[in-house]
Amino acid sequence: MLESVEKFLNELSASAKNGSLVKLTLGNYKGADKQLQKINIRLIKTSKGIRLFFLYRHDARDIAKNYSISDGQVLIKKMLGREFFSGHLFTTKNDLHLDIGRKSSRLNVGKPTFKTAPPLEHDRKKEKLIDPHGVYLNALGITNTNGEVGSQQQHKWRQINKYVQILADLVDQSDLKDRASLTIVDMGSGKGYLTFAAYDYFKNVRGIDVKMTGVEARSDLAGISNDVARASEFDGLEFVEATIDSFVLKDVNILIALHACDTATDDALFAGIRANADLIVAAPCCHKEIRPQITPPPMFKGILKHGVMLERVAETVTDGLRSLLLEREGYATRLFEFISVEHTPKNNMLVGTRLKKSSDSAPFDRQIAEVKDFYGIHEHHLEKLLKAGIETTDGLR
Ligand SMILES: C[S@@+](CC[C@H](N)C(=O)[O-])C[C@H]1O[C@@H](n2cnc3c(N)ncnc32)[C@H](O)[C@@H]1O
Repeated sequence: MLESVEKFLNELSASAKNGSLVKLTLGNYKGADKQLQKINIRLIKTSKGIRLFFLYRHDARDIAKNYSISDGQVLIKKMLGREFFSGHLFTTKNDLHLDIGRKSSRLNVGKPTFKTAPPLEHDRKKEKLIDPHGVYLNALGITNTNGEVGSQQQHKWRQINKYVQILADLVDQSDLKDRASLTIVDMGSGKGYLTFAAYDYFKNVRGIDVKMTGVEARSDLAGISNDVARASEFDGLEFVEATIDSFVLKDVNILIALHACDTATDDALFAGIRANADLIVAAPCCHKEIRPQITPPPMFKGILKHGVMLERVAETVTDGLRSLLLEREGYATRLFEFISVEHTPKNNMLVGTRLKKSSDSAPFDRQIAEVKDFYGIHEHHLEKLLKAGIETTDGLR
């Protein structure tokens, strides 16, 4: 082995042992994988001990894996000079830059960029719900390796923090408060930001035995999220590639859905109602179904001729009817703006808390019929699902 490579690897090994390792990047990739660009490597602490966390950065997707320190070092040694021809090692003592050429290689040692190594484990103050140093946040592109949230990611970061805060409060106000275990489902989980954050909070801050599932129609997103969950050793978290309406949901304490598109939110609400979820917490988006159906009553014609007004009414009516339907099915509801509009204009949040006794459905049926009649609405997806559910299962309640 080249002397410079040996020195580089020795420094890596020493820094991993003495706690001065900040991070390592392998670059100048010349291997067979057309999409792979580089690997970012850092230390993390998991339930199995201190591990080396590898984030394989690809053009379109990232893959996260973790290894024992010794296995990780063997792998790095194997890849340097065969697939990767540069390495950048940051320790709190030195920055080392390795360039491997055809005939010779060069190792530059400079002053350290970083004075302290990032924390290996979550160092949470009680009020801090989501630790920005969680490796999943880095793997999902929300934070950099120092746990700093990217400027483009601030809005998503605020949304998931607020969402988790609301979930924490709702659990505290409900019968779920002292539960040792919780089953949570996230419908339309996308890249899984919220799914990971909620799991991390309930499992690692609250110490609850959480079984969490993200349901996502796109196989690539479900696949990436599963990779990151495994690398983070989040054993109770899994992502399933499925549409919400085809996913068989049996026992669930909390159903969440953040911006499940259009009527996918209705599919999610329906799944929660049918499974008797204790809590249903949805932030809907793109209310497309109702808008083309609205035929304004004559006195509103002059107002609703403006697209923006029609849009707002469609959103209000869609979510208002969802709320009434949940109430009819035995849930107490709240509808509010969960976050300021600067972080997302899709900021309605609908919360349903299952009541112990089912309600008399007649007053709700009347209100729903009156609202639909007033606006000329003939179909609301959630209502349709509930009706079909009642017909096929002889009643959901
Ligand atoms: C706007 S994204 C939101 C993702 C995530 N909840 C978040 O807020 O970061 C909506 C996600 O829902 C998924 N989706 C939409 N309709 C769905 C359906 N019927 N079943 C499952 N996933 C669905 C999309 O593929 C997309 O990833």
